[in-house]
Amino acid sequence: MKIEDVKKICVIGAGNMGHQIALSAALAGYQVSCTDISLEMLSKAEEFARTYLPERVAKAKLTQEQAEQAMANISFTQNLEKAAGDADFVIEAAVEKINVKRKLFADLDRIAPPQAILATNSSFIVSSKIADATKRPDKVCNMHFFNPALVMKLVEVVQGPHTSTETAQITMDLCKKMGKKGAWLKKEIYGFLVNRILAALHHEAQFLADMGISTPEEIDMAVTNALGHPMGPFRLMDFTGIDLAYYIAMERYQETGDPKDKPSPLIVEKFAKGEWGRKTKKGFYSYEG
Ligand code: 3HC
Repeated sequence: MKIEDVKKICVIGAGNMGHQIALSAALAGYQVSCTDISLEMLSKAEEFARTYLPERVAKAKLTQEQAEQAMANISFTQNLEKAAGDADFVIEAAVEKINVKRKLFADLDRIAPPQAILATNSSFIVSSKIADATKRPDKVCNMHFFNPALVMKLVEVVQGPHTSTETAQITMDLCKKMGKKGAWLKKEIYGFLVNRILAALHHEAQFLADMGISTPEEIDMAVTNALGHPMGPFRLMDFTGIDLAYYIAMERYQETGDPKDKPSPLIVEKFAKGEWGRKTKKGFYSYEG
């Protein structure tokens, strides 16, 4: 298969990441089918596209024709068979639970055409933990986007020991077609590149807050003003989800057994209270109204 053979993309999951990945692909000219088990999530994703595209036209970032074409390129369905049955490339952005992903990949292996590439957008589950649920491990890899996916340029493409170089190359080519910058990791490593670097920053920020040295607000203020980051670590965790920060740390801890990899007391508390950031309207900051 070559990148030119990729005509239809199926995006699984219409949540935080999936709806923007799907729209990015539709804007790049691909036929996109976005699927989710939740009708509510699909309706929200469609509503987002219907609001976002005219806003881009109003801002002169897109022409009316480009916006109309993107809307015509994308469809939303609860039916996995319909979404993936004729897809050339699948990007899975479902919940970060390994058993859910393994079941999905086994289903996709049955449903999607035999030549289709199956990529996961997981933040921390390497594709070697999923690939053996399929009979096409050579066509399975990580394709990790950043939030918000319509804005952030980087995509990490991680080639597992089972992934063929052809699959990684086509995935890199797809990044380019979508206007993204691909970073090709030729070996799997927990956290890939960016989340490892972010983890170091977040670990230190949480330590300083847990020790009572400073507040999350002050630490965010220090990082944005001293390092020029658009968001400090606590606001960024609210943005990407404190639940995700908790799962990432737990997965890491289970792998290493090193107590310093455990989620910090601050994260454990926020996770237990259901204060997961913007998605629950409260995290380190409040988003009511
Ligand atoms: N969805 C789509 N587009 C958005 C958006 C959103 N949620 N939020 C902002 N934008 C767009 C705006 O439309 C605007 O586009 P334009 O310049 O072309 O008109 C542009 O982004 C700037 O928006 P604003 O002026 O409203 O706001 P900011 O300048 O504050 O930017 C931000 C918002 C882009 C989110 C910026 O704060 C930022 O870059 N934050 C850091 C994000 C980050 O670090 N992401 C990586 C997280 S780690 C991750 O995702 C990995 C995962 O595994 C956890």
